[in-house]
Amino acid sequence: MKIVVIGGTGLIGSQVVKILNAHGHEAVPQSPSTGLDLLSGRGLPEALKDADVVVNLTNSPTFDDASPAFFQQTMDNLLTAAMAAGVGHAVILSIVGADQVPGLVYYRAKVLQEDILKTGPVPYSIVRATQFFEFIDATLSETSDENTIRLPATLVQPIASADVAQAVADVTVSTPLQGIRNVAGPDVFALDELGKITLAAHGDHRTVVTDKRAGTFAAASGDALIAKDGAVIAKTAYREWLAR
Ligand SMILES: NC(=O)c1ccc[n+]([C@@H]2O[C@H](COP(=O)([O-])OP(=O)(O)OC[C@H]3O[C@@H](n4cnc5c(N)ncnc54)[C@H](OP(=O)(O)O)[C@@H]3O)[C@@H](O)[C@H]2O)c1
Repeated sequence: MKIVVIGGTGLIGSQVVKILNAHGHEAVPQSPSTGLDLLSGRGLPEALKDADVVVNLTNSPTFDDASPAFFQQTMDNLLTAAMAAGVGHAVILSIVGADQVPGLVYYRAKVLQEDILKTGPVPYSIVRATQFFEFIDATLSETSDENTIRLPATLVQPIASADVAQAVADVTVSTPLQGIRNVAGPDVFALDELGKITLAAHGDHRTVVTDKRAGTFAAASGDALIAKDGAVIAKTAYREWLAR
């Protein structure tokens, strides 16, 4: 199959391209650095020529109030061009529980992205993943100073980006789901505990202070970010990944 991976130079996209090519597909990475800008549409018709599937693994440059407009414009451009090129399957990557956290504008933007795909003209699949292991350090930095890191006890179920990429690749070469596949890591942690585990593994002697109002994930409550029944549970454990 010819598979165009937009955002194919990113954390997930680059791994998806590798997996697909290793399985004999023709996966083509696209991004602004290869001449395709999904926001303006530049390079899109040429890239989608003869494509069987398009995978959209782009991300908004910011996670703030500008993110809904990014996902609206990029999805409008994607679906218009995919329809014109006769692409038979469009895949996006969203977030487990995105619809359960209305207080975060970026999560609302991801739900908007899903809704545009669901109501659009192209057969589709949505993969929803939990927070990537690779994203945990950035989460800790958000509310840290020299001595402490403030974190809420929000429940999270993080996953290795390699496992996310595998799940996206599996869905990409299957029949369109016309729905959502959830993927999550094997363990559930309170975020403040996850912070302590991460600092210990890094030999970082700062203290974690539990603060229910601190940082992005203060906006999520209960089990909003935890995968429910039917999710694919990935194998890689966070402690094992940290020890590599
Ligand atoms: N972080 C998490 O924990 C998490 C959890 C669940 C789902 N997700 C979702 O996973 C997706 C992929 O995330 P990621 O971490 O792999 O992203 P990333 O590493 O930031 O990569 C983003 C990719 O999008 C490309 N891109 C940016 N703007 C573009 C544009 N206007 N036109 C075309 N390509 C553009 C980038 O190209 P350049 O490299 O050339 O800039 C890069 O290839 C995101 O949609 C995110 O919402 C993330």
